[in-house]
Amino acid sequence: MEKVTKIIELRHKVGLWRAQGLSIAFVPTMGNLHAGHIKLVTEAKKKADKVIVSLFINPSQFGAGEDFEGYPRTEQADQEKLEQASANLLFAPTVMEIYPNKAEATTVSVGELATLHCGAHRPGHFDGVSTVVSKLFNIVQPDIALFGAKDFQQLAVIRKMIQDLNIPVTIFSVATERESDGLAMSSRNSYLTEQQRAIAPELYQSLCRAKDLVKQGQLNFHTIEKAQKNQLQESGFQVDYFSICKASDLRAATKNDNDLVILVAARLGKPRLIDNICFSKKSQLIS
Ligand code: PAJ
Repeated sequence: MEKVTKIIELRHKVGLWRAQGLSIAFVPTMGNLHAGHIKLVTEAKKKADKVIVSLFINPSQFGAGEDFEGYPRTEQADQEKLEQASANLLFAPTVMEIYPNKAEATTVSVGELATLHCGAHRPGHFDGVSTVVSKLFNIVQPDIALFGAKDFQQLAVIRKMIQDLNIPVTIFSVATERESDGLAMSSRNSYLTEQQRAIAPELYQSLCRAKDLVKQGQLNFHTIEKAQKNQLQESGFQVDYFSICKASDLRAATKNDNDLVILVAARLGKPRLIDNICFSKKSQLIS
């Protein structure tokens, strides 16, 4: 696997592949790779001739006081994992390479979707994500790009951006990779103390409980949300939100909606953990 840090080098490489008629899949990441990221690469390998992975800790999606400075930087180990997963090219630019003007005048903002849930608790976060992803799409110009369903709202924001701006990239989502006790894999899990790590799986358990209640026919969503939230708080989580939503637009679900997603975000000690469960009220799990 080759590694490049400059846009011009990346474009040269992509140009050579394009001249050979090869298709390109793109997996954007912020590094500190775990099995969830690697699953995206493995799926990408099945769908395109060449797989490009970016490793860029994007400052514009971190708010003031968030963990940009302390975000785990493990580039050597990441590179080895990507070699093993047979990725074809690693793009690891500097901040100056992506934001040469420090504060670019143009940003991408997808509107209401980016202001709900995590958007409400991390103002500007999704503008940072949509801006950097659109820049990376313009740099790489892939045929397809893969994102994890773990970051459900991020995926929805990217899909909306692609649709609204006619960006010619097909988006695929990959199911959340979990630890054996159900905890969604995340780079931020490394911040958990041993004691917190033992409690952390309760986040996913609360989603499963809420899903079961809905599927059993309990349609007072507010009551379910409140009960799960209280239980998490009692276990030591500080819950930002626990919301039963329509999978299509992430607005609050009503009892007539069928395709649902339950979104949760909660702080447990240092890290803020997010997770979700997506299902159809009438039939089986849809993702
Ligand atoms: P990062 O958190 O590194 O995640 C990179 C990709 O891996 C995202 O698409 C994310 O949804 C996916 N991912 C993370 N944990 C996963 C898991 N347990 N199972 C499956 N997929 C998982 O998300 C970002 O970086 C950034 O916001 C980025 C899109 C790169 C823009 O800066």
